[in-house]
Amino acid sequence: MQHFLCKFIFMISMLWEAPGVHARKGVKCGGVLSADVGHLSSPNFPRVYPPYTECSWLIVVLEGSTVQLTFQEFNLEYHDTCEYDYVKVYNGASRDEGNLLGTFCGSKLPPNLTSSWHVLSVIFHSDKHVGSSGFSATYRKHICGGVLTSLSGMITSPDYPDNYPNNAECHWLISAAPHSKIHLVFTDFQLESQECNFDYVAVFNGSSQEEQVTHYCGITKPPDTTSSSNELLVVFKSDFNIGGRGFKAYFSSGECQDVFTVVKGNITSPRYPEMYPNNIICQWNIQLPQGFRIKLFFRDLELEEMNSLTEACDYDYLAVYDGQSPSDKLLGKWCGTKLPAPLISNKNNLLLVLVTDRDTANKGFSVSYIGMVPINVSCTRTDFHIQVPIQSVPQLERSHIYLGTPACAAQLSGSNYKIYARFDTCGTEPQVTEK
Ligand SMILES: *[C@@H]1O[C@H](CO)[C@@H](O)[C@H](O)[C@H]1NC(C)=O
Ligand SMILES: *[C@@H]1O[C@H](CO)[C@@H](O)[C@H](O)[C@H]1NC(C)=O
Ligand SMILES: *[C@@H]1O[C@H](CO)[C@@H](O)[C@H](O)[C@H]1NC(C)=O
Ligand SMILES: *[C@@H]1O[C@H](CO)[C@@H](O)[C@H](O)[C@H]1NC(C)=O
Repeated sequence: MQHFLCKFIFMISMLWEAPGVHARKGVKCGGVLSADVGHLSSPNFPRVYPPYTECSWLIVVLEGSTVQLTFQEFNLEYHDTCEYDYVKVYNGASRDEGNLLGTFCGSKLPPNLTSSWHVLSVIFHSDKHVGSSGFSATYRKHICGGVLTSLSGMITSPDYPDNYPNNAECHWLISAAPHSKIHLVFTDFQLESQECNFDYVAVFNGSSQEEQVTHYCGITKPPDTTSSSNELLVVFKSDFNIGGRGFKAYFSSGECQDVFTVVKGNITSPRYPEMYPNNIICQWNIQLPQGFRIKLFFRDLELEEMNSLTEACDYDYLAVYDGQSPSDKLLGKWCGTKLPAPLISNKNNLLLVLVTDRDTANKGFSVSYIGMVPINVSCTRTDFHIQVPIQSVPQLERSHIYLGTPACAAQLSGSNYKIYARFDTCGTEPQVTEK
């Protein structure tokens, strides 16, 4: 906590070196906003904004709540990649590209944006020519709920881990890129017991609340969910008395989660080889048929360095578990840039988890995996034996398992396929006689 606080203060002081540097003389803009609601706009709005201007707003609300930003007017010089005039919105401090929620220009109104914690910053930039009327936006502190568009984030009941307030109602709409799915995991859950009519959490596929869904309460947490579309709605409701600690859940979507079932593949951190986002938890499962083991090779690793005080990977790290969940055995936890040696799972599942903190992103990682079938080979002077567990090749019939020619087919022996062969048969080379 202490280190985090230091990092945070450092971050804010870094931010405040920024404005003014490129600002034009006589144009005043930007600042720190800490009221529960507020307004910001480009200089001179709604008249043409001046050239060579850079404004930076830092919005900080009460810890535990989030910031929702809504644009009312938007008209900036257009460019394909917004290189000339732009508005950038960051989930935290600006200048840290890992926090970037979006870059906007042209005349299309940006969507509503919600931070995943209590800090949000906005940068306005104009170049030497072609001014427009600029933008105007309002923000408000959100006690709970909002539209969440980041690749990953955390949601908690209001005031968590303290008791949640009475008569609260929160709606979080998690909205991912088209065709991408959302994975939601509750890591802590404690609501007023009894029936789930009073205090409850419900999870809806998509954004509509029409369908009948289970209400969860007490200590029975909602199961891990993967959405069927690119939207998932989480609703929390509390009545007028008796509370609880509430809940904590995280979600991941798009490039931040996947389940691999093919025998080999590649996995990279989101946006690789560009910088990964801050403040995410991503997870990738590799699930191969029974009998397979998984070998993982590291091709590239560039994460934030370890905490030099604890000499541990406290900030950003990649963890690999020997199974399907973080409760399985941890095979390793890495950060920094030293490439780990390849590793092999004990069974047919492997879980990769990437956790990043609130600042200092880097290039990320790239790994490849391949499913391996354990095979025993032994030999004598004249012949050799190959054994393969049947469960390793469930998709093959016995007649399809042979050495060289179908005449040298495998035999069934207990739970294994066995192939016995002389060195001079089955198309193999005769044994070389040692002199
Ligand atoms: C954006 O937020 C405003 C104010 O909270 C709300 O009125 C509006 O409907 C929201 N727009 C969308 C597309 O959700
Ligand atoms: C959403 O739909 C998918 C596919 O129909 C299903 O597997 C999943 O359990 C549903 N999730 C919820 C929260 O209803
Ligand atoms: C994985 O990446 C390597 C190196 O870039 C490439 O040669 C290989 O084809 C990729 N494999 C798959 C399954 O995408
Ligand atoms: C291979 O041999 C080892 C040692 O004899 C044994 O423990 C293992 O189960 C065998 N594996 C297979 C696939 O037969």
